[in-house]
Amino acid sequence: MSRLQKILSGIAIVCVLFFGFVVFRIAAAPHDESVKLAKIPTDNNQQLGTKAYKDAYPLEYNSFMKNNEQAPSPTGYGGSQGEHSRLTEEPEMLENWKGYKFELQYDDDRGHTYAGQDILNSKRRPGQKGSCIVCKSSYMYDVYFKESGWDFASKPFDDMAAPISEQDAWFGCSTCHDPETMELRVYNQAFVEAMERRGIDISKASHNEMRAYVCGQCHTEYYFAKADGRVVLPWDKGFDPTEEYAYYQTIPGGFDKDWTHKDSKTPMLKAQHPDYEIWQSSVHAQNGVTCVDCHMPYMRENGQKYTSHWQTSPLRTTQESCLKCHDESADGLLQRVKTIQDNTFRLERIAGQTVAKANLTVKAAMDAGATDEQLAVARAKLREAQWYWDWVEASNGMGFHNPDLCLRTLGLSIDLAHQAIESANGSVKGSL
Ligand code: HEC
Ligand code: HEC
Ligand code: HEC
Ligand code: HEC
Repeated sequence: MSRLQKILSGIAIVCVLFFGFVVFRIAAAPHDESVKLAKIPTDNNQQLGTKAYKDAYPLEYNSFMKNNEQAPSPTGYGGSQGEHSRLTEEPEMLENWKGYKFELQYDDDRGHTYAGQDILNSKRRPGQKGSCIVCKSSYMYDVYFKESGWDFASKPFDDMAAPISEQDAWFGCSTCHDPETMELRVYNQAFVEAMERRGIDISKASHNEMRAYVCGQCHTEYYFAKADGRVVLPWDKGFDPTEEYAYYQTIPGGFDKDWTHKDSKTPMLKAQHPDYEIWQSSVHAQNGVTCVDCHMPYMRENGQKYTSHWQTSPLRTTQESCLKCHDESADGLLQRVKTIQDNTFRLERIAGQTVAKANLTVKAAMDAGATDEQLAVARAKLREAQWYWDWVEASNGMGFHNPDLCLRTLGLSIDLAHQAIESANGSVKGSL
């Protein structure tokens, strides 16, 4: 062998070793989308819980159980502490929800594993109907809906909840997975129906769309239909808070209000967690980044890759949740998130307090003799102002999911609340 041949064969050996190693690494890494199908019991009751899946899918099961952990969020907003009262933190809420159940209790949310327990213990539960189980258990679909459609929605909550508690079927794996195939699925029929009204057939959804749909089926604004108590998602005109408001102004199916405010006698709407809507027009959604990319990142354990099922603050896993795309330090990113949240919180308080003042100003005008007719404009402005404040307040992430939209919506709220105050004061002058 000449010297040149020796050098060339040396290079060849190095190349073979190197590329061999690369090929080995790629082949050894589990393929993202290949779910190994394990035999899980076909008994419906077990399929709708979590325990039956434990042995077949230990990594996913164990990470899902981390939802039991209770801790404050790294940013100081949100967090996973059930006992943490929002009413104490933002006392203007007490004025704004006067006469409605939310003045009784409004705590921060915590992990999915608590969903059943927290609704059973809620001070707002007494008197509620079966509709409330829709976002707490797929029992709603796999048992009740398959039997007799939306009938369960108008029956007493306690009757509908008892079999679920007995069978330990609150928030099971079947919430997001078809228990027969383990494919992602949407079980909440309100989501399916709302999408149909928008001309979208979700059975044709792409894999990436499903990674937002499975969360969007619950993390959205909704109301209960007057006729049969079914859950309806108000997306017919669009996902923006102004479009949802315009939809409610059509009084869909006779639904005109959630309650009448005790002080201002204004017919009010209550917003609830419009996370899916807020995400829709965000920079992340526009770049195809879904809830799952941040809240359920890929993890590794003993060389095995799996999807984290600990749906919590992504800032507990910044490395896996964010830094796969963002080229900055974990602390730098945390500070950016915190700045967005501080700004949102500041405006949220101002909006909430201005709306509270508007509620009290309308009451003062009534006390001074202003008539319903004279107060019509003030109440219309107030209803809309309160909706925009509540829409941001009720959403999760304190503005992070879509800073521009949240700040714009709070700005609208503050402006409308001032208009309501001005109009109410004007009606008093007019009545003298
Ligand atoms: C809140 C929704 C949700 C719940 C509840 C849920 N999963 Fe998942 N699961 C997902 C998503 C999203 C993925 C990622 C799927 C994808 O992109 O292909 C996933 C992926 C998986 C995979 C595929 C392998 C992997 O790690 O990516 C398995 C297996 C799995 N989940 C098992 C379970 C088990 C067992 C439970 C119950 C303990 C459960 N899941 C509960 C949403 C959920
Ligand atoms: C079946 C309805 C439902 C689905 C589906 C669902 N969630 Fe939730 N989510 C809830 C409820 C209810 C809570 C509050 C539970 C409590 O406080 O007891 C919650 C709480 C959370 C929290 C707060 C956790 C904490 O520790 O404070 C996060 C984060 C979250 N969900 C993200 C997601 C993501 C991401 C998805 C999709 C992969 C998803 N959720 C799918 C109903 C749902
Ligand atoms: C780009 C990443 C990203 C995407 C996409 C995303 N989130 Fe978040 N989410 C966050 C961050 C960051 C926070 C704030 C966490 C904190 O304050 O500690 C958050 C907070 C939350 C919370 C409140 C958690 C708590 O501790 O109370 C919920 C619930 C939530 N997101 C649900 C969703 C849903 C549902 C979607 C999709 C419709 C979604 N998120 C999309 C990053 C994301
Ligand atoms: C899959 C990729 C991906 C992931 C994961 C991701 N981001 Fe992003 N992020 C982007 C892209 C793309 C943009 C838009 C960049 C642009 O337009 O310049 C963006 C923009 C942002 C912005 C600017 C937002 C705005 O409204 O202008 C912030 C802040 C941010 N990301 C924080 C986070 C945090 C925190 C996480 C983890 C919880 C995260 N991102 C996860 C891709 C990602």
